[in-house]
Amino acid sequence: MRIYALSDLHVDFEENWEWVRAISPVEYQGDVLIVAGDVTHKTERVLRTFDTLRERFLRVFFVPGNHDLWVRGERGDSLEKLDALRSVCAKSGVDMEPAEVNAVRVVPLLSWYSSEFDPRCQDRAVPVAWGDYRYCKWPDEVVEIDRHFSSINREPSNGDGLTVSFSHFLPRWELLPDVTHLRFKALPLVAGSGLIERQLRAWGAHIHVFGHSHIPWDMELDGVRYVQQPLAYPKERRGRSPRLKQIY
Ligand SMILES: [Fe+2]
Ligand SMILES: [Fe+2]
Repeated sequence: MRIYALSDLHVDFEENWEWVRAISPVEYQGDVLIVAGDVTHKTERVLRTFDTLRERFLRVFFVPGNHDLWVRGERGDSLEKLDALRSVCAKSGVDMEPAEVNAVRVVPLLSWYSSEFDPRCQDRAVPVAWGDYRYCKWPDEVVEIDRHFSSINREPSNGDGLTVSFSHFLPRWELLPDVTHLRFKALPLVAGSGLIERQLRAWGAHIHVFGHSHIPWDMELDGVRYVQQPLAYPKERRGRSPRLKQIY
C-alpha cells in the first residue's frame, strides 16, 4: 500500500477536472489518497470528484478547505455546508474520520486560520474582498473559528504504527515563506493555526499533509515531515506538470 498526498484540486478549472479524470483507474487500486481540502464549493461537483477518485483508489480521505465551505447561492451557513459534505463523503465512501488502513493511522483534522498565526506578520489587514469574508457564514456562537474546528475533532488515541495526519490549513508558520516572497501579502493572516500543530502532536503524527497556500512543500520540523502537494490554479503551475506525491 502506498499513500499519496494532494490538495487544492479546484476542479472548477476545467484543466484541473480533466487532470483528475485522467488519473489511472488501474495503478492505485491498492493505495490511499489524502485530499487536503479545496475541491470546489459546488457540492454536486464534490460528489462527482469523489466518485471519480474512489474508483481509482482503495481509500480516499478528505478534510474541507475554505473554498469547500463557501455558501454561494444556497441556503444555510458554512457549518451546515460541512454537514452536507459529510453526507457527500458517506455517499461516495470517502473518509472524514480517523481510520487505520493496513496498520497506518490516517487522521483528518478539521481546521481554520487565526490572524495570530505568524509572528512575523501582525500589522497587516486582510482585504475586504477576501472570498471567505464574503462567502463563509458562521453561526453567532462561533467566534474563534479555528478553536471551533479544533474542538469538534476526535480526541487522540494511542497507536504504535505510522500516523499520517492532515489538515487544509498550515499548522506552523515555518511552512510559509516570509511575507516579502508572497504575492498575497495578507496570506499569513489567513493561513493557519497553532491549534493544528497541537493536535497533530497529540496524535503522535509522523507525517502531516496540508494545503491552502498552493506552495509545494516538503520539510522536517521537530521530527515531523510536513508535505504540501497542491494541484493549485492552472496559472500558478507555470509549466510544472501536476502530479500526485507519494509520501509512504
Ligand atoms: Fe486552494
Ligand atoms: Fe484554501
